[in-house]
Amino acid sequence: MGRKPLVGISLKIYQNKIAEAVNYAQSISQLTNGETDLELFILPSMGVIYPVAQALHNRENVIGLGAQNIAPIANGALTGEFSIESLVDLQGHYVEIGHYERRTYFHEDNELINQKIQLTLKNQLVPLLCIGEAQQTTGAELKTVFKKILAADLANISPAQLATLIIAYEPYWAIGKAAAAQASYVAVAHTMIREALAELIGPTADNVRIIYGGSVSKDTAGSLVNNPNVDGVFVGRFGHDPQNFAEIVKIVKQVKLQAN
Ligand code: PGA
Repeated sequence: MGRKPLVGISLKIYQNKIAEAVNYAQSISQLTNGETDLELFILPSMGVIYPVAQALHNRENVIGLGAQNIAPIANGALTGEFSIESLVDLQGHYVEIGHYERRTYFHEDNELINQKIQLTLKNQLVPLLCIGEAQQTTGAELKTVFKKILAADLANISPAQLATLIIAYEPYWAIGKAAAAQASYVAVAHTMIREALAELIGPTADNVRIIYGGSVSKDTAGSLVNNPNVDGVFVGRFGHDPQNFAEIVKIVKQVKLQAN
């Protein structure tokens, strides 16, 4: 089934100085050495997105660039927000939308998230929609939870428009922890997400890549992606060392390419 495996990292607001962010981006670019079997991306801290974009463009680089958030409108009176127009200009490709921290600390609701997804698609960029449940939940119930979130976040968007969508499954209870969720739990959750999605958008659900995020490390990446419904990983703190990020890429490649 032709879904290309993905490994990405969000730097949140770590690595906020130009030199450290640029060094980091250059290091992972070097260490992953023109990898093309997987799709790789970096979402830098917003204040250094421009120098990171420059650094990536100056190299024979295959690491895609994205933003951790955008404003719901492209242009206008929204003090302090980041416009998708800037991201397009920087040749960014991915827009993270609806991360747990945005939904919780910044009170982003489904309507706002839906607006951001629509704006991203209108600009031909790729929405990276984060969803997750607050507490560990059993299979059938999980599907109900996901279906409700997805129905609201993806409202009024045609299935054809959603072929490029990426979903990051990030259980709230596994973010910022010592270890990721159990691989067996993640396998069930991803299956439930794909089933819920299929009920909402039909066969296009097969094109949507679903990646796992939440305390992913090189120790857990292999078992997490060892399932046909887990298309990759979305890395946080445990990818801050470029060697670790490169190691995760290597492991995911081994598992996914062997499986296909
Ligand atoms: P973490 O971050 O790996 O540091 O938990 C992951 C995320 O929130 O995307």
